[in-house]
Amino acid sequence: MNKRYVIGNLKMNPNSVSETEQYLSTLRKELFGKRIDGVETVVTPPSVYLERFSRELPEHILLGAQDVFWEKEGSFTGQVSTAMLRDLHCGFTLIGHSERRTYGHETDMEVGWKVRAALHENIRPILCVGETSEERDRGEEADSVSKQVTLAFHEVSPLMAERILVAYEPRWAIGTDATPESEDILEMRIVIHRALAELYGPAVADKIPVLYGGSVKAALLDRVCFEPRMDGVLVGRESLYPHELIRIAQSVGAYGVSESDGIEHHS
Ligand code: PGA
Repeated sequence: MNKRYVIGNLKMNPNSVSETEQYLSTLRKELFGKRIDGVETVVTPPSVYLERFSRELPEHILLGAQDVFWEKEGSFTGQVSTAMLRDLHCGFTLIGHSERRTYGHETDMEVGWKVRAALHENIRPILCVGETSEERDRGEEADSVSKQVTLAFHEVSPLMAERILVAYEPRWAIGTDATPESEDILEMRIVIHRALAELYGPAVADKIPVLYGGSVKAALLDRVCFEPRMDGVLVGRESLYPHELIRIAQSVGAYGVSESDGIEHHS
């Protein structure tokens, strides 16, 4: 069984230092006396608040960034380096989030560079992949997602590949309240597994966690996580409510369904 993960992507929130303090103190209060077992819970705040989160994040919650740049240092205005993230104890970073691909015009090639840069600094990439609604309408979702996976893992060794988490996030489901059916998510999980197995063989592919993201809510976990046997979820808007994030993490941790059996199990 793979480890399970819940990632809380705060996006461009909170909007001030005092709101950040408020978020952290609510998170601490909500966690008091509770246990979150069987799941790694990661929060990814905006980069300007990483330092504060790094100091004040409750034990058991891990820190991630929302993006990172591929160059180590130098004249790259507005960018954040892997060394800066490491220095703040960031163990994870989102890479290729659909909002970065849309508003930052990030390409698959750049996503691949970022993945390799993060791995080099021992930061685990949370690679976001997903089809647009037009691609799904044309029946091209499997091709689109396989291509994104293959390009992002380009030149990544099998050992390093196991450090990557893949988040399947259909772009039409992010920030919209639309969610795919469980069968569609399972189908895309198989597509991702197949793309990884072609690169590394099934044994390595089995070890790479695949999460679901896009309009996740606690009430939808059966449909988007448990039934399609995902290894966790990437939560956007709902993670702005600490009690919801904790509720989701507790449910995902308590549910023992992330075996790869039935997905394409090879000996
Ligand atoms: P959402 O965002 O849960 O608000 O749809 C998901 C994400 O940030 O990937």
